[in-house]
Amino acid sequence: MNKTGLSHEKIETSNFLMIVLILLVLLGGGLIEIVPLFFQTSTTQPAPGVKPYTALQLAGRDVYVREGCYNCHSQMIRPFRAETLRYGHYSVAGESVYDHPFQWGSKRTGPDLARVGERYSDDWHRIHLNNPRDLVPESNMPAYPWLLANQVDAASLPSHLKALRTAGVPYTDEQINTAAKEVQGKTEMDALVAYLQVLGTALK
Ligand code: HEC
Repeated sequence: MNKTGLSHEKIETSNFLMIVLILLVLLGGGLIEIVPLFFQTSTTQPAPGVKPYTALQLAGRDVYVREGCYNCHSQMIRPFRAETLRYGHYSVAGESVYDHPFQWGSKRTGPDLARVGERYSDDWHRIHLNNPRDLVPESNMPAYPWLLANQVDAASLPSHLKALRTAGVPYTDEQINTAAKEVQGKTEMDALVAYLQVLGTALK
């Protein structure tokens, strides 16, 4: 037996060596798993038909994040039969390349919303968000009546689009310049419904 080399006994009886080697293994494995994702077109390029959010949809997405809808709703259909039968085609990475940050989540008090776009009418969403119990009597989703009264914060949108462009979303100068005008006079309800109605529609 070779007692001079890096024997098991030596590693297992030295906390320091054990920790260093475990970290090396994690680092190596992590790099091999993560680094390719930065270079694969399936994870870095938009899926066919996926477009950057319009200013109004983006404003709605901000409301979605602010109100914490992600605490009860995921936006990630997993590739299992039970999920695809209920929600439609499973989610692919190219659908969320313009999402900063993404809204995948894993908590499902309510249904997944990755493909809720075009499933209901705009009016359905307005009534539902104003008071879910008007449409689904047993619902425990909170009511969001203030969305009808709040105006979209138009002034902040151009800089928001600009920031997203820095993160790689291909907004044109024109889109940035007209962003504030596009949402002028719209309520947060208009914006949130516009956002919900585009979710998952590119790959329906
Ligand atoms: C406390 C958990 C909870 C929160 C927070 C919540 N929801 Fe829900 N949501 C539910 C539940 C439960 C249902 C199913 C019953 C119903 O339709 O009301 C639901 C249903 C929905 C539906 C219908 C989905 C479908 O496929 O039928 C939409 C759309 C929706 N929610 C949007 C939102 C939005 C937007 C927000 C944030 C403004 C939000 N929810 C916040 C629990 C929640």
